Amino acid sequence: MRKLIAGNWKMNGSLAANEALVKAMLDGLGGKVPASDMALCVPAPYLPQLAGLLQGSPIAWGAQDVSSHESGAYTGEVSVAMLKDFGCRYAIVGHSERRQYHGETDVVVAAKAQRALAGGVTPIVCVGETLAEREAGQTEAVVKRQLAAVIHAVAHCTSEIVVAYEPVWAIGTGKTASPEQAQQVHAVLRAQLAAATQHPERVHILYGGSMNAANAASLLAQADIDGGLIGGASLKAADFLHIVASAA
Ligand code: 13P
Repeated sequence: MRKLIAGNWKMNGSLAANEALVKAMLDGLGGKVPASDMALCVPAPYLPQLAGLLQGSPIAWGAQDVSSHESGAYTGEVSVAMLKDFGCRYAIVGHSERRQYHGETDVVVAAKAQRALAGGVTPIVCVGETLAEREAGQTEAVVKRQLAAVIHAVAHCTSEIVVAYEPVWAIGTGKTASPEQAQQVHAVLRAQLAAATQHPERVHILYGGSMNAANAASLLAQADIDGGLIGGASLKAADFLHIVASAA
């Protein structure tokens, strides 16, 4: 399978900065087919800008969240139909920053994943343990619980999701999981997917957490690491393109 390298800009950017960053990425690609599939998940207000900048390019775009509700009185929420209006391909759901700062539970995350799929947007489902959970030997149990909720909700559509393993202790800290640590968890997730779908090999399992130009190749060389979800390094065109090239 072709790997998928997705950028998560988080709450960064401006009209001017986005234009410069995307232009630098497209210039860097030089009209060639990238070594992996690419996507940029940007703050919702910038989706129409990205739709324009990326039209006809090999880079897809996505949102960083989506409402679990279809429409109506949910102030501040963005529905999957609204994302779809802009040609949005992906929506991150259950990022640890949403779980941690916005109280999103496994049930809410599962509902978001289900809503995204039903609306034709591929959910990038994030799972991952905190440092305390890792130290308590709970890593497997935590990620399996988080993924199980989503599998339960999306049922026969499980092969259509993207999973991202993002150990919370590695996000934005410069501390990356070693390739072996990451592979170990990815193998657990693959086995869980295999029990739920006939096509576990179709599901991209991305690694996220301080992936950068220097460490990407060794992580992406692991058997069950099918790509990356990149925070900080996706804000620098050269670094992001280097990671994409590392996926070859
Ligand atoms: P960093 O790459 O900045 O550690 O962020 C990872 C992440 O949270 C991507 O969703």
